[in-house]
Amino acid sequence: MQIRTVGVLGCGLMGSGIAQVSAAAGYKTIVGDLNKKMLERGQARIRKFLEDGIAKGKVTQEQSDTTLANLSATTEFAAMKDCDLIIEAITENIDDKVNAYKLLEAAVSPQTIFTSNTSSLCITELAARTRRPELFGGLHFFNPVPLMKLVEVVRALTTSDETYQTLFAFTQSLGKEPITAPDKPGFIVNRLLVPYLLDAIRCYERGLGTIEDIDKGMKLGCGYPMGPLTLLDFVGLDTTYYIANIMFDEYKDPMFAAPPLLKRMVLAGKLGRKSGEGFYKY
Ligand code: CAA
Ligand code: NAD
Repeated sequence: MQIRTVGVLGCGLMGSGIAQVSAAAGYKTIVGDLNKKMLERGQARIRKFLEDGIAKGKVTQEQSDTTLANLSATTEFAAMKDCDLIIEAITENIDDKVNAYKLLEAAVSPQTIFTSNTSSLCITELAARTRRPELFGGLHFFNPVPLMKLVEVVRALTTSDETYQTLFAFTQSLGKEPITAPDKPGFIVNRLLVPYLLDAIRCYERGLGTIEDIDKGMKLGCGYPMGPLTLLDFVGLDTTYYIANIMFDEYKDPMFAAPPLLKRMVLAGKLGRKSGEGFYKY
């Protein structure tokens, strides 16, 4: 299976990063978002990352020009008709994802491989709700995509060997380090990370320490690059809330239950960096 043209659906935090690394690796890349404002914000995020990269001496002008030349943006599903691979990175909601696959399937070839960047949904269920269960897999990238090396490659019960090998090789062609992760809620990384992040919120709610001290403790005491509450703002509190609910639903284990404060912050529109305020103000 030859990948030449990649469609990335969703141009939020993750979709914009995935589109950037795909275009940088030489793939003709079309990034789509139904929300024009989000599409423009995502494109601006890519341009800023490349400009900062040039200023830091990490990206050459030529690499930046090539990336931008390989990239186009759309609000129409039909623009993805020639894509060999679709990477879906829209909001963590199963009905929205399944509806998007239906619309995409009407536009693309029956040979196009579909993948989801979902953090917690069941890949086998997503695959089963398309007309191409053998041509479907999970590609779980990490935030910020251009800097984080890992991709979890997730096999649904139905994913064909050829699809799986194509996806594994594709992530390597992006300069990423793939690992094989099971189709269990949260795969490997979020199975371990999400209970830690939720516990940090619970501990803060119960008065363990200030926001700053909890973060400083884990950053300076354990050498983590970010404290848990900073990381939550970075990931997005809405996304974390959706992930917690999905994982709790599957495991029925209280460690995945969304803390009351998380729910309230999401309801109040305090989504972290993306909305200008979460545990911190931006
Ligand atoms: N272009 C190119 N390179 C750049 C760059 C740019 N615009 N900006 C930064 N870099 C490079 C830097 O030059 C630096 O490179 P070296 O290591 O070679 O010096 C490196 O990237 C790190 O950059 P900074 O020094 O500026 O930033 P930092 O050290 O503060 O690191 C970070 C930033 C990588 C985001 C770090 O804070 C970190 O790893 N945070 C944790 C992120 C994390 O845990 N992500 C996972 C979230 S969970 C998830 O994604 C899964 C899910 O489903 C929710
Ligand atoms: P986000 O809120 O930043 O972006 C989601 C984007 O999807 C928005 O731009 C929205 O307009 C768009 N969208 C929603 N419905 C759409 C549709 N039907 N068609 C086209 N676009 C649509 O979210 P995000 O953080 O980028 O997360 C996207 C996916 O990646 C989720 O499945 C999430 O679980 C996963 N993920 C997130 C992180 C993270 O750290 N935030 C890390 C890994 C994986």
